[in-house]
Amino acid sequence: MSVWDALPHPIFGLAPMDGVTDAAFRRMVAAQGRPDVTFTEFTNVSDICRGPERLMSTLIYSEAERPIVAQLYGKDPALFYRAAQVVCELGFDGLDVNMGCPSKNVAASGSGAALIKTPDLAHAILRATKQGLDDWAEGQSIDGLGFKPSRLDCIRTMNTARTGSPVVPRRRLPLSIKTRLGFDCVVVERWVEHLLAVGPAAITVHGRTLEQMYRGAADWSAIAAAAKVARGTGTLILGNGDVHTLVDALRRVADSQVQGVLIGRGTLGAPWFFREKERAREAWRTQGDVTALPGWAWEPRVSIAQRMHIMVDHARQYEAIAGLERFSSMRKHLGWYCKGFPRAAAMRAKMFQVCSVRDVEAVVAEFCGEPCAT
Ligand SMILES: Cc1cc2nc3c(=O)[nH]c(=O)nc-3n(C[C@H](O)[C@H](O)[C@H](O)COP(=O)(O)O)c2cc1C
Repeated sequence: MSVWDALPHPIFGLAPMDGVTDAAFRRMVAAQGRPDVTFTEFTNVSDICRGPERLMSTLIYSEAERPIVAQLYGKDPALFYRAAQVVCELGFDGLDVNMGCPSKNVAASGSGAALIKTPDLAHAILRATKQGLDDWAEGQSIDGLGFKPSRLDCIRTMNTARTGSPVVPRRRLPLSIKTRLGFDCVVVERWVEHLLAVGPAAITVHGRTLEQMYRGAADWSAIAAAAKVARGTGTLILGNGDVHTLVDALRRVADSQVQGVLIGRGTLGAPWFFREKERAREAWRTQGDVTALPGWAWEPRVSIAQRMHIMVDHARQYEAIAGLERFSSMRKHLGWYCKGFPRAAAMRAKMFQVCSVRDVEAVVAEFCGEPCAT
């Protein structure tokens, strides 16, 4: 049984976001209200196979985040075959292939959402990835796959740091895909049918085309059409796009008949987003009609003091994992926490200058006093 088979329905998952859903943020989300499934930021298969060690940091995770799916992108099936086995060797619960990224530096090279234009290559990538997952499950060692000894050491060190053991138990990891409605027009039914031929455990459909990037509203009627194509195949369809609350998520599930939803931007500055997911699911089971629910139902009450505490804790996690040199990347998260309370804008401006946890604590003390008032 794969991790996808064991998830409750509807599934509420944390979407992958490059530069956002890093190890520190995911750790906060796991502590504040774990989603049903968590995705890493995407990692380039070429970086896994032959990049510098620091680029492996997107694959750092903690046991508390399980079930956790590693997302990969690229365009070379042979690299996917090898990278898939690294994902297995690192003990992830699943592997997701990115066929949805619209950004120039990914799609212009033929990866991400550009694969919608090259369906044969997309199939070759998925088959190679699946083969990698199967070969590893059947006992193939990554020692013979041409990785540098330092990369093998890095994998074992990452495992030891996480679990105390350099190796993980062997099992067959499920393959999933995250994609969009099309390249420059909506072709999602044909495209999903094409992907289904490879038998993925799940497909996440973001309700926009590559050309739309993040413009306009996500088209959930097109997501519903994708869900219809997949019905009865055994592949789960998750919808994605513009879901900002658990109520939004349930309404989208009701209308589109997807098996779950991934939430991305709705979690920014709100690692507690999933905290009340069981209550939402219970209402879904017992209530039937979710259209009458107020939009704020199941939004956790988080006092200003708690918000400050969580923000500082997040900064502490970030500094511990990424180090002071990269602390400036934490500033955007700090900005997202600074909203919805008096003088939030002024605090946000200060947060864009901090360089360490100590700076963050000083800003909090300046604005809130010690301890921070609720
Ligand atoms: C900053 C940022 C980074 C993203 N990085 C990824 C990524 O690494 N992999 C991916 O599949 N999607 C990525 N996405 C897309 C999101 O997973 C999601 O599909 C999109 O934001 C729409 O969902 P939302 O409205 O819930 O945010 C990213 C989105 C944002 C805003």
